[in-house]
Amino acid sequence: MKKRIAILASGSGSNAQKIMEYFKKHPDAEVAIVLTNNPDAYVLQRADNFEIPSHIFDRDEFYDSDRVVNLLKNLQIDIIVLAGFLWLVPENLLKTFPNKIINIHPALLPKYGGKGMYGDRVHKSVLANNEEESGITIHFVNEHFDEGEIIHQARFRIDKNDDLEMIKFKGQQLEHLHYPKVVEGLLKKMKSL
Ligand code: GAR
Repeated sequence: MKKRIAILASGSGSNAQKIMEYFKKHPDAEVAIVLTNNPDAYVLQRADNFEIPSHIFDRDEFYDSDRVVNLLKNLQIDIIVLAGFLWLVPENLLKTFPNKIINIHPALLPKYGGKGMYGDRVHKSVLANNEEESGITIHFVNEHFDEGEIIHQARFRIDKNDDLEMIKFKGQQLEHLHYPKVVEGLLKKMKSL
């Protein structure tokens, strides 16, 4: 049986898109479902385009029930991939899928992480501090924002004239290149891939 990936996303879902593309014809793994907390998230359209089922949940369902956990268990999900997912992952999910939930963050953690650090806010802080480089971090998820064990980082140089858009672009290029391969690598380590 193919290894099964679940993606959690709250917004546009460009990383989700790259992962769905990468695994579309993969012999050993597939994206089984896309979940979101945001009924207006563009990631839902992207999932539809790939004919991948999706599920929308609200706070009550996510934090005060086991419905999401049970859904993922029933689908026999092997890895949960957060791709621009902005809510903290609850304990029942962490316990059911130990070392199987990963996140991507648009900076070189442990710098520029933590609650409220997402999207443009991250890049603006990097720019304000005149950093000479930034990058991306893929890490295991734990009960704190952006704090689990780091799996993979990639860096880019910030040139003198780089503005917010350019830094975002450079980071996104790296995310799109690395995230699907890191997911594949982790699944391989889980044997039988
Ligand atoms: C990505 O850049 C990801 O690193 C970031 O949200 C963006 C989602 O973009 N995640 C965080 O900031 C988490 N703290 P996407 O919806 O186009 O994939």
